[in-house]
Amino acid sequence: MAKQDKPQHTPDTGHEWDGIRELTNPPPRWWMIAFHASWIWCVVYFILYPAIPLVNDSTKGILGWTQIKEFKQAVEENEAVKAPFLQKVAAMDGQALLADDGLRNFAESSAKAIFGDYCAACHGAGGEGAQGLFPNLADDDWLYGGDIDTIIESITDGRQSNMPAHSEFLNNDELNQLTDTVVALSQGKATAEQMTQFDDVGCSNCHGMDGKGGAINDLGSGAANLTDAIWRFGSSREEIMRTIRDGVNQDPADVPNTRIAIMPAFGGKLSPEAIKMLAVKVHEFGGGK
Ligand code: HEC
Ligand code: HEC
Repeated sequence: MAKQDKPQHTPDTGHEWDGIRELTNPPPRWWMIAFHASWIWCVVYFILYPAIPLVNDSTKGILGWTQIKEFKQAVEENEAVKAPFLQKVAAMDGQALLADDGLRNFAESSAKAIFGDYCAACHGAGGEGAQGLFPNLADDDWLYGGDIDTIIESITDGRQSNMPAHSEFLNNDELNQLTDTVVALSQGKATAEQMTQFDDVGCSNCHGMDGKGGAINDLGSGAANLTDAIWRFGSSREEIMRTIRDGVNQDPADVPNTRIAIMPAFGGKLSPEAIKMLAVKVHEFGGGK
């Protein structure tokens, strides 16, 4: 019996390969429902939302939805939530802000992004600074002071310390002796004789009679504390001698090796509220001390 003569219960397309016939059964019902639902959904979506790319633009969709609008709306909602807090921050001074647990937390978390944008490039993401370049804000050793008002002042007005280059009026022996004095100071071993020289050449004018620095002695010069073993510019003899010889923030045209230490002023760039919140964050970096 030829294959074509076999009884056929189901209609087919007439195609056959190796005895397998292609039938014309419709797909299952669930499949057809899913198929129609999909294309209807597509058409509705194309009408409601931007969909078909044109040369420079695309169809807009009758809902007028855009990603930008959605983003702006989210930003507005966020600002609306923050506004009452920011108003309170604006009305408070730094001390009061620190004393209010809720607002202090708000300030710290709001300041995180601002710190990342404006400060981290120099002071590091965690305020850890960079040896020789930017001071560590996360220890409790301060050039100018770690109380909230002084921190606000540092950020608003900027800071530029000044230590003269001593190469012109000290000879090599004296530079070496003073380097020894500074090393001894950091170990708590400076002799009375060493401190007399320290005072005679004028180091004490800024670093204080005991070498404990401007912030602590209230001289306001930003002069480093030389008695702790925390080094702004490096702890080696060479680094210490370089600071004494070439000073800090002298004119590089005259003293090419002078240290450069300039904290830019943010008073014109950031709002007073932002600066207050940053100060809270910096204050908390230092363990609140
Ligand atoms: C371009 C680099 C740079 C940027 C950006 C910068 N700082 Fe500074 N900052 C410095 C330097 C350098 C000093 C030290 C100045 C000195 O030695 O006199 C300093 C000092 C400080 C001090 C004083 C520290 C002390 O021991 O008393 C504070 C506080 C401070 N910065 C906070 C900030 C905050 C907050 C920001 C972000 C708004 C910021 N800084 C951005 C470079 C920078
Ligand atoms: C006009 C004020 C002034 C005088 C005078 C002065 N210093 Fe300084 N000195 C500073 C300041 C300000 C700094 C901190 C700079 C900074 O960190 O931005 C500093 C920093 C230093 C440092 C670096 C400390 C560190 O942590 O790396 C050493 C060391 C030092 N001074 C030693 C001396 C010695 C020794 C003398 C005397 C020969 C002297 N200074 C005289 C203002 C002065």
